[in-house]
Amino acid sequence: MIKKVNINTLKKLKESGEKFSVLTAYDFSTAKYLDEAGIDVILIGDSLAMVALGYETTHSISVEEMKIFTKAVAKGVNRALVVTDMPFMSYHCDISEGIRNCGEMLRLGANAVKIEGYSDYILDLVKRLNDSGIPVMAHLGFTPQFLNTLGGYKIQAKTKEATDKILEQAEKLQNVGAFSLVLEMIPEESAKYITENLKIPTVSCGAGRYCDSQVLVSDDVFGKYSEFTPKFARKYGDMRALIVECAKKFDSDVKNGKFPAENEVF
Ligand code: KIV
Repeated sequence: MIKKVNINTLKKLKESGEKFSVLTAYDFSTAKYLDEAGIDVILIGDSLAMVALGYETTHSISVEEMKIFTKAVAKGVNRALVVTDMPFMSYHCDISEGIRNCGEMLRLGANAVKIEGYSDYILDLVKRLNDSGIPVMAHLGFTPQFLNTLGGYKIQAKTKEATDKILEQAEKLQNVGAFSLVLEMIPEESAKYITENLKIPTVSCGAGRYCDSQVLVSDDVFGKYSEFTPKFARKYGDMRALIVECAKKFDSDVKNGKFPAENEVF
């Protein structure tokens, strides 16, 4: 009997000093294979806007689109905790709409949602989501949905003051019930300090070695997405080359009459 990962599992792992793994998935079979591989948390990241849908930034993806991918991924997963990234403008306008949109993701099979940024409004929303039975993974540091207000893809928390500010925000998010925190693109010393001062686990996305967990975009890990690869994304395979190789072989077999063979016809 498979023991499903839940938010308490992650809390216990932090307490015992054990790390956990997080990868993104956007479709049923990838989610199934990541789950089989033992990945602990599967994130339907809004990175899918760029990676799977070819949009320029994450801003373009809608709630309706995220719902389709959430449903597909959730169907493929038995063990991992499934987290849906709430897209731009799906939770910012008002609390009721935010709760409704997040609730839809749980209705479709997610176990939690991820929400970027910090403000009094976000604190209130995280509290209300928790009160409604919707666990929240927070996300600070570089937050792609704030690309335009941050003025570009910039490393955050480079000073002691900026690090203290993130820690203060993280503590408040922890106090209103966030169960974990993604730290994106911050120096590892800053991430270490924040991690050591929080009870909830931190998830590094380009935030170095001392967080409680690491997340990467699976298409970067597989070597499938080739438009842009950040410095912190380690490539473990070359799926682009594999896809091109398989497609070329198929193309050649079709054109040379080698496909289908006798055992492949009715
Ligand atoms: O959208 C995404 O994939 C993410 C993670 C990489 C943290 O937010």
